[in-house]
Amino acid sequence: MLLSPSILSADFSALLDGIKKIEEGGADYIHVDVMDGHFVPNISFGAPVMKSLNGKTKLPYDVHLMIEHPEKYIKDFVTDYTAFITVHQEACEDLGAILDLIKSYGIKAGVSIKPGTPTSVLEGYFDKIDLILIMSVEPGFGGQKFMEDQLYKAVELSALKKEMGYDYVIEIDGGIDLTNIDRVLDAGVEMVVAGSAVFKAEDVTERVQEFKKHRARL
Ligand code: DX5
Ligand code: ZN
Repeated sequence: MLLSPSILSADFSALLDGIKKIEEGGADYIHVDVMDGHFVPNISFGAPVMKSLNGKTKLPYDVHLMIEHPEKYIKDFVTDYTAFITVHQEACEDLGAILDLIKSYGIKAGVSIKPGTPTSVLEGYFDKIDLILIMSVEPGFGGQKFMEDQLYKAVELSALKKEMGYDYVIEIDGGIDLTNIDRVLDAGVEMVVAGSAVFKAEDVTERVQEFKKHRARL
């Protein structure tokens, strides 16, 4: 499984320190939660914060844009260290064009869906999408309760991927911790975001190692 700890729950006054800890524990990505106060009722941080980390960590960025008009801001998040840029389907007027725009920078293109949005909205785009991010909380805040009823989307997307030979990575975000990680992986999730469960741990490095021990059992 791939682990992408969300720095939204990190101590911003010691951000690099927190990142070194997840790096040491074997994290695969840094999940960068960007919120604009419009698409979601909260404001987080933007590209300058992310860019200040350039070259200071080996971990690539997994950018999650919870913003309106993402097409206006994609370029700001393009760096040599950006692996994925994910936009919300609900925020895109022309999803195909935004996916093409992200890919034009040589970056993998992701699409996220909120809990109320079915996977069927992605029909017609599956062969263009590099990552699908299933929200298992309403986007906007870290530390919320995991919505177990979202796991059917991972099951659906995983079956579709096998049947059709699609390449997208299945990621989940919101409320994931050591009590639900096995069920999440068993549902077909390949990449896991964890914010508070990682950064609020007493020993962040050890917590990352604990997460990374888990594998799908089915
Ligand atoms: C929520 C964000 C998440 C959040 C996850 O809108 O997209 O990435 O930081 O935090 P936890 O793991 O605490 O739910
Ligand atoms: Zn996120």
